[in-house]
Amino acid sequence: MSEKEKTETSEAEIAVHWGEEAYYYPSLEFVAQANCTDPSIYERFSLDNFPNCYKEYADLLDWYEYWHTTLDTSDAPCWKWFVGGKINASYNCIDRHLPKNRNKTAIHFVPELEEDKVEHITYQELYVRVNEFAALLRDFAGLKRGDRVTLHLPMTPELPITMLACARLGVIHSQVFGGFSGKAAADRVVDSRSHVLITIDGYFRGGHLLDHKEKADIAVEAAAKEGQTVDKVLVWQRYPGKNSTPTPMVDGRDYFVNDLLKKYYGARVEPEKMPAEAPLFLMYTSGTTGKPKGCQHSTGGYLAYVAGTSKFVQDIHPEDVYWCMADIGWITGHSYIVYGPLALGASSVVYEGIPNYPDAGRAWRIAQDLNVNIFHTAPTTIRALRKIGPDEPRKYNYKFKHMTTVGEPIEPAVWKWYYEVVGKKQAAVVDTWWQTETGGFLCSTLPAIKPMKPGSAGPGMPGIHPVIYDEDGKEIPTGANKAGNICIRNPWPGGFQTIWGDRERFVRQYYERYCKNPKSKDWRDWPYLTGDAAMEAADGYFRILGRIDDVINVSGHRLGTKELESAALVVPEVAEAAVVPVSDEIKGKVPDLYVSLKPGFQASPELAKKISDALAREIGPIAKPRKVWIVTDMPKTRSGKIMRRVLSAISNKGDVGDVSTLANPEIVDQIRKMVL
Ligand code: PRX
Repeated sequence: MSEKEKTETSEAEIAVHWGEEAYYYPSLEFVAQANCTDPSIYERFSLDNFPNCYKEYADLLDWYEYWHTTLDTSDAPCWKWFVGGKINASYNCIDRHLPKNRNKTAIHFVPELEEDKVEHITYQELYVRVNEFAALLRDFAGLKRGDRVTLHLPMTPELPITMLACARLGVIHSQVFGGFSGKAAADRVVDSRSHVLITIDGYFRGGHLLDHKEKADIAVEAAAKEGQTVDKVLVWQRYPGKNSTPTPMVDGRDYFVNDLLKKYYGARVEPEKMPAEAPLFLMYTSGTTGKPKGCQHSTGGYLAYVAGTSKFVQDIHPEDVYWCMADIGWITGHSYIVYGPLALGASSVVYEGIPNYPDAGRAWRIAQDLNVNIFHTAPTTIRALRKIGPDEPRKYNYKFKHMTTVGEPIEPAVWKWYYEVVGKKQAAVVDTWWQTETGGFLCSTLPAIKPMKPGSAGPGMPGIHPVIYDEDGKEIPTGANKAGNICIRNPWPGGFQTIWGDRERFVRQYYERYCKNPKSKDWRDWPYLTGDAAMEAADGYFRILGRIDDVINVSGHRLGTKELESAALVVPEVAEAAVVPVSDEIKGKVPDLYVSLKPGFQASPELAKKISDALAREIGPIAKPRKVWIVTDMPKTRSGKIMRRVLSAISNKGDVGDVSTLANPEIVDQIRKMVL
């Protein structure tokens, strides 16, 4: 398939195009206290000073041994950062804060039920709990350096505790978003070859105590069918000592962590001195093909990058109370709930539930009661909160100095509500553009240095040098305001190292397209293809338009259209499936699913529901389509390719364009009538 064909369903084509907006400037009060007020940072991180500029980030950490090579390019494009350095992420996020900040809160855990008590876990307590659990992982579960372990945990403190316990041992954690299905967890268990699955009995979501343990049983069984045995399932308890799941434990396989922990009371585990380039974790994400890919992130480079960006972009000081409302099951939570903020010794809020439970004021009450001063969320949440409670923030007495938006383009009108109502015109706002693959921010303003511009992410981060190429590989100049494929010219320490177990796919998907010389060991020859379309204004600010590949961004969650289609094809009646993104007022995009049936089957509402349920079962409820359209045939090219562009135009009530060259043009009208 040619690249042009691949971009056929490009979201950019249907992206909202808004105009240039005026600048907003941060308050003097913000600037006076900001971590980064010296504009020379851009000079310090210029390409002339690359790669040594990143020493500034690495120096925010404690190293057992300093590195001898800042950037090793010998295995291009698998870059190695801070080679020779030895470091431990758990030590950097916990132990080193103890002498001064032992009794400071590391994690404020806010349960979803308001009648449940908020837990304030100090750095000392985090130290104790991480050590005891690390001892259990080592001595009971037999985990050691380099092993992979799959976590399927929701937003409770056990998740960061588990991650940090793994990091302490040099065990590579692979956390699967709690809302994903058991089957999705199984795929990740198999790909990472995990023998241990760590889960929890239940958790709260929208006021209901969900049975989560049942997903572990599905995961273990499905993984076994694929040849991967899970010997131990470690089950945390939502209420320690009390069982919150009706699903029975399997003898000799399932263990309640809280029972086992009694044996490890007082245990301390020396942090492993890990090579900087040892993998810290895998984070699976969706791509062009059906199979999710395990983005492999390093220890030293990653931690340096998230610490540096947390300091300069998030403006985190150790005395701040920082709340990122993402889920730790996504990269945002890994980088900007756990590793970045804790590396800097801040207090990070972990909230279990949904933002509007039990009412539209919940988020602002949490902010008020915990004295949160840095707030971080996604446009989809901002839109939802604005819709259900446009005046709600005014009722609460909190004060944000800084706010972040992440994950999708944000419409200027929504941005302005965020700034004026949520931020009370006092908070500096950053729109951070980045990806699971990139570990940390790629484009954003530095909040005390660059003004905000609604709808634009901003310039490249210090040390990140974006470039926009057209389809033919020619650079689109700054200020051209022309859309193209945004790439990054240079490597940076937070970038993923490879796709777990699939280097070839890594090179093909991210580097092949604009590589200047596949034999080269010079990073200048290997621009990184982000997969997003963007345009650059005259001031060097980038506006991100959306994906150029088959990825749909639903409420800031990344879903592969192929993944959804494969899930639909599991239903025996389904012959063909095609997924297209539809614009949605709150969620940004939602999938519409078109299916045709095998001969002998009839369309019915029951069948449509069965197909929709299959997507929720195979992937998770977030994958449920807006609508399942059962069609008699798909619009196809003469070579038999499904024309998703046509379906997308129909779903979005747009112009289908010229369809006369299709093999079956008459079907287009039929489908349009059905949908409209
Ligand atoms: O299309 C871009 C969009 O989200 C994609 C990355 O998704 P994921 O790997 O799940 O990571 C989400 C958290 C970083 C990108 O390719 N995206 C992310 N941030 C923005 C964005 N689009 C516009 N503006 C952003 N600030």
